[in-house]
Amino acid sequence: MKVLVATVKPFAAEAVNGIKEIVENAGYEFALLEKYESQDELIAAVKDADAIIIRSDKITKEVLDSAANLKIVVRAGAGYDNVDLAVASSKGIVVMNTPGQNSNAVAELAIGLMIYAARGFFNGKPGTELKGKTLGIHAYGHVGSLVAKLGKAFGMEVSAYDPFIPAEKIEADGVKVYNSVEELYANNRYVSLHIPATPQTAKSINYDLLKTMPHGATLVNTARKEVIDEEGLLALMREREDFKYISDIAPSNGELLLEKFNGRCFFTPKKMGAQTAEANINAGLAAANQIVRFFTEGDKTFQVNK
Ligand code: 3PG
Repeated sequence: MKVLVATVKPFAAEAVNGIKEIVENAGYEFALLEKYESQDELIAAVKDADAIIIRSDKITKEVLDSAANLKIVVRAGAGYDNVDLAVASSKGIVVMNTPGQNSNAVAELAIGLMIYAARGFFNGKPGTELKGKTLGIHAYGHVGSLVAKLGKAFGMEVSAYDPFIPAEKIEADGVKVYNSVEELYANNRYVSLHIPATPQTAKSINYDLLKTMPHGATLVNTARKEVIDEEGLLALMREREDFKYISDIAPSNGELLLEKFNGRCFFTPKKMGAQTAEANINAGLAAANQIVRFFTEGDKTFQVNK
């Protein structure tokens, strides 16, 4: 049995060592492909793999077609929009994620980005504080609920919108619930995005929604760039000099935004939300343990392509 770790963006060394130990203790072979530069390298590496652990690595039809022995793909992280689930399902390949394992890292980054923006990107001029400001959490999952908790610790007035989570559960955390996405945006100076990228959410954060945000608004995106209607965002930033956009991944029109709206947007050079040693260890080791449990006990908890 061969378990391949394939990561363009490598895990911290401690995480790789931990994964290797779990895999080898189970009696399986461990293989590592890091920082690869073309899909061809991945396609070659998966040929004899029974299991793969990935991050945002693209598991396309071509990759799956070349992996004749593959039985399981574990995305060490939350979002699995990088895996062709339909093709995996048609081949009987189980796809899992490791929900919650890297959430704290992403939540801390969301708050860090908010502080950075509130302080004028550390430009030496007077800025503002988070305390007393409204913070809307768009989707109250693992990351969203942690951002809410941190926002409350900063003295922010926190509210959320999530049609998939019972209102009582959100309210139990002392977070106000809005019943529509429109209300969430219209009532919050900061909105932190935590929706997944799906065909339904693609470009759903659009001009009409963003234009209702209060004066001095900041949109924080540690989710996916695909959920933003980039043309709409550009139009809004042209119109609203008070509006800031900060994101853990540059939009496709990022260079243009930075050039036109200097001091009102910031993008990390590479998706950094889950780039901590702790997140790598939590998600990487969870992925390895899930693979061992799958092979030894048939455990399919966390399967996402049911
Ligand atoms: C996730 O979906 O878990 C995060 O976006 C982290 O992605 P990464 O593993 O590519 O950093």
